[in-house]
Amino acid sequence: LNYNVNRERRYILEVLFNGLRRLEYRGYDSAGVSIDTSHSLPPIVFRNEGKIESLVKSVYEEVASTDLELEESFSVHAGIAHTRWATHGAPSHRNSHPQTSGPGNDFLVVHNGIITNYEVLKATLVRHGFTFESETDTEVIPKLAKYVFDKANEEEGEQTVTFSQVVLEVMRHLEGAYALIFKSRHYPNELVACKRGSPLLLGVKELNDKMSNGPSRNEGHLHLPSKNGQPKELFLSSDASAIVEHTKNVLEFEDGEIVHLKFSISEVRLLDSGNSYSLIGSKFRYGMSDGGVSIFKFDNSKGKQSAGLSRPASVQRALSVLEMEVEQINKGNYEHYMQKEIHEQPASLTTTMRGRLIRGGSCKAKTVLLGGLKDHLKTIRRSRRIVFVGCGTSYNAALAARPIVEELSGIPVTMEIASDLLDRQGLIYREDTAVFVSQSGETADTFQALEYAKENGALCVGITNTVGSAIARKTDCGVHINAGCEIGVASTKAYTSQIVVMAMLALAVGDDTISSQQRREAIIDGLLDLPNKVREVLKLDKDMKDLAKLLMNEQSLLVFGRGYNYATALECALKVKEVALMHSEGILAGEMKHGPLALVDENLPILVIATHDACFSKQQSVIQQLHARKGHLIVMCSRGEAAAVGLGGSCRVIEVPQVEDCLQPVINIIPLQLLAYHLTILRGFNVDQPRNLAKSVTTQ
Ligand code: G6P
Repeated sequence: LNYNVNRERRYILEVLFNGLRRLEYRGYDSAGVSIDTSHSLPPIVFRNEGKIESLVKSVYEEVASTDLELEESFSVHAGIAHTRWATHGAPSHRNSHPQTSGPGNDFLVVHNGIITNYEVLKATLVRHGFTFESETDTEVIPKLAKYVFDKANEEEGEQTVTFSQVVLEVMRHLEGAYALIFKSRHYPNELVACKRGSPLLLGVKELNDKMSNGPSRNEGHLHLPSKNGQPKELFLSSDASAIVEHTKNVLEFEDGEIVHLKFSISEVRLLDSGNSYSLIGSKFRYGMSDGGVSIFKFDNSKGKQSAGLSRPASVQRALSVLEMEVEQINKGNYEHYMQKEIHEQPASLTTTMRGRLIRGGSCKAKTVLLGGLKDHLKTIRRSRRIVFVGCGTSYNAALAARPIVEELSGIPVTMEIASDLLDRQGLIYREDTAVFVSQSGETADTFQALEYAKENGALCVGITNTVGSAIARKTDCGVHINAGCEIGVASTKAYTSQIVVMAMLALAVGDDTISSQQRREAIIDGLLDLPNKVREVLKLDKDMKDLAKLLMNEQSLLVFGRGYNYATALECALKVKEVALMHSEGILAGEMKHGPLALVDENLPILVIATHDACFSKQQSVIQQLHARKGHLIVMCSRGEAAAVGLGGSCRVIEVPQVEDCLQPVINIIPLQLLAYHLTILRGFNVDQPRNLAKSVTTQ
């Protein structure tokens, strides 16, 4: 952060805390912050187990009990903060970030990701006299930085090495996935960040600049808007949601990039010249010898230069303008993000389809346009097989879409849970089209499966909700689901938008033959009307709350589905499990007699999805058999068909609007999302941040 004098430390802390609040959905078991002290003392670190608010409380308590001046003025300041989701080491004070190089806080690091070779590094550092206090993989990083820094200065006899050179050398030794931000007492008012495999963004805000002032482009170089003499604030974050309230001008870093932020009071004065500047490597346009924002590319092949540490090569990057709105990441009139996101679905589905479905005019057939796929449709049509790959809810969405993709494309579709594909090193061929489905675009297993499929020569298609994400970048082509920012850890609106995108993909890949015309038009009409039908089904909110009251003290819930709605059964069970913390299992109804029937008695609640489609008569028979064994049944059926499920009013029925069979999973899941939501609230759990879970699983 680059400050006008007279800005206070309280402001600095609040900016950092607010950033953490925005990122809390990514991890929330502990948190920490480090800010500068005055008079060349080392930076101070506050860390705390638990949620952000408990860090905030403890920082203000600690400040009140010490002589740390909150109203102190800074001309420049660089602070870092972190919210954690534990991988190595339980949530605790000492495992929280920032991790430090030891007493004196020579180097401090916050880390998103995982260091896979930390044990080897730790052993080496212990041999060099370092002692470790945490169980984290991260702690090796600041200690390695201190080792590199001390060694380089010992060789040179003075401090000539730059902060980014130290980080470059550290990167050379790290294996795994990471986005890192370094702070150091040796480099006051500087931060260095780098990334490989985990996301990292830089936001650039001119103080007093309106956010609407976007960057302008000039032959690939970038000129930031500059209001005469205004200093700026720079924000580094894993995620745009922590940046968007400050600025929409961002830069998404590529793997292997290092960014060095450096300010001094004299540089602030230089900015008074009012010149615009350009983010083109290590120097400001108007001849500053050093400072501002420098971006470098890590190149391992270069190795060490003859003396000292190597100098990284600078690179040119362009800013882009975030499409996210601040309102999207607020709860609005809702109590919880999950509730908001469930109720947002008429709008999110409309955005998903916007500009992609063409209504037929008098002479024009209805059709689908997916710009991100258009150059690859021929290759997809020629594939021997389509392989859907995903984790969690994204996998379930692909499963829901599988039948329509097979039907319209005539290409066999196989399903892969990303971790299982990797465990088996399953066969992927050059003739395959592999489709990677991921809301975040960052899930480690899905990303590694993508790398594996690429190595094996498959055409790789991405379906993500995050523009610029690792999966979006690495795939050959793809479709963004445009569902808007999803903050609730349990995915809801992304699920329905993913299904809709895959239905559109089926239409785009499928042949537009006379024989398929009627079916295709019915699906397109169904898609266009889907937001209205979702609005109708959302009216079941109160009924689902009543049902949740009946079920809230149960131990378990079985969910039976088949055909298009096997995925609905799996997804309902996943939602109930992950947020309501109630055991639940999705069961393929066709497998009922091969085991699950043994569980049936008058106590265990069983939800059967029996909306009208080609499997309806089979589901009627399943209901009869469960009823004959006195099963405690709840049946979901198409509106007006309660009588047809044949139980004469003896079980609870959820009636939903009927739509085209392949779109029915979008409608059916919505009351079940509401059920999971209400169950969670009634059972007294945190619906947006379920125990032990995180939104983006960036480690394996
Ligand atoms: C986590 C989230 C789930 C999500 C899954 C896959 O488990 O809690 O909601 O479905 O990751 O995430 P992705 O971002 O790849 O869709």
